[in-house]
Amino acid sequence: MTEDAVPAGELYTDGFAADPYPTFARLRTERPVCPVSSPRFDSWLITRFDDARAALTDPRLSKDLYGPGQHYLRIFGPNSEGLNRNMLNSDPPEHTRLRRVVSQAFAPRRIEALRPRVAQVVDHLIDKMLPQGQAELMHDFAIPLPMTVICELLGVPPQDHDRVLDWTQVIRTSGSTRRPPQEERAAVQEAQLRLHHYFADLVRAKRDDPADDIIGALIDAVDRDGTLSEAELVTTTFLLVFAGHQTTADFLGNAVLALLTHPEQLELLRATPQLLPAAIEELLRFDGPLPVASPRIATEDVEYQGVCIPQGSIVGVAINAANHDPAHFTDPDRLDLRRVRGPHLGFGHGVHYCLGVSLARMEAQIALAALLRRLPGLRLGVPVEEVRRLPAASPFRGLLELPVTFAA
Ligand code: HEM
Repeated sequence: MTEDAVPAGELYTDGFAADPYPTFARLRTERPVCPVSSPRFDSWLITRFDDARAALTDPRLSKDLYGPGQHYLRIFGPNSEGLNRNMLNSDPPEHTRLRRVVSQAFAPRRIEALRPRVAQVVDHLIDKMLPQGQAELMHDFAIPLPMTVICELLGVPPQDHDRVLDWTQVIRTSGSTRRPPQEERAAVQEAQLRLHHYFADLVRAKRDDPADDIIGALIDAVDRDGTLSEAELVTTTFLLVFAGHQTTADFLGNAVLALLTHPEQLELLRATPQLLPAAIEELLRFDGPLPVASPRIATEDVEYQGVCIPQGSIVGVAINAANHDPAHFTDPDRLDLRRVRGPHLGFGHGVHYCLGVSLARMEAQIALAALLRRLPGLRLGVPVEEVRRLPAASPFRGLLELPVTFAA
């Protein structure tokens, strides 16, 4: 890493976690393409919208972390292959093959058919919170909703949802506990191992008792025509569980917090429910759950804004910085639910564009509509500065807890 890397102390602070947008603005203006040191790994950051969009489709920025160079070791550490060698970490044609096997299940028409069940899960979670007059919205609602939906889609038996949730939460919240880093790393590794074993066992069990779910379809792809290997079956299942709940949960938390801290926008949405689809895109642009897209690797020297990113570098495309670029969005730091729906990068761009976009939008629509309708007087239960967030070094932007109160 060169001398003028942005030091970790500038980016990975509590202040940055609370509000990264002033730092992103400075980088976008002064150093739109720059090396950064982070507690996890050193990388390059691209912060302007046009560069970010171009980088997400740049074939010189590879997603193949398990190819030559073993870049996954720097990013995920050893023993990560069993879970992380999946479509998100591969390039075409491997990527095309891995994605095609599951893309049908996430097609808009298939997802639309899930609407009544998603509404049922939402109502059930709200029914449980309602009599209390208060809730911790992450654990009581934002996390269990997408977790239940993705587990049901995959075919994870209901009695196992909590176990899977507990393991994924160890991974999600790492860096935020008071445990020494070494202990925390060990806990994450153990959770990953348990998830790996769990899914491998589940696949075995489902072979003996086939079902009409995504894991069943994946088993078919292995057994019928060998489109998928046994190992890829497990890594795909893990990716879908993780990608299918983490970002949606963090998005719901961020969205509710944004609305509660912008009461005039909340009122606008209550008064104009037909704004909801556009509001969801604006809330995602305003404070998305994946601040930096998953890592890319420069397969050769690559130039952006006249700056050379050397071959072999890890490259982060700062989605949340790009989504606040004033060259693309007027008054970008303002939450404006009436903003004309411009193409933001919240769901990515190019071949890795979010596979679950229809599901995410549908869950968010049903969830936000129901929260506003059924929890009158919804407000923050603590001052906003006391809302606990995931640490700045987390790859996700989200809340650890979101205490709220409402009329019981
Ligand atoms: C608000 C919620 C969500 C957001 C903001 C989001 C965002 C994203 C983004 C930005 C990417 C591209 C990452 C990159 O290029 O590095 C992505 C990929 C992906 N997302 Fe989502 N996502 C959400 C919900 C979901 C859901 C519900 C699923 C369901 C399974 C899902 C599954 C995936 C998968 C499998 C990929 C990898 C696609 C590929 O590599 O071809 N996501 N998501």
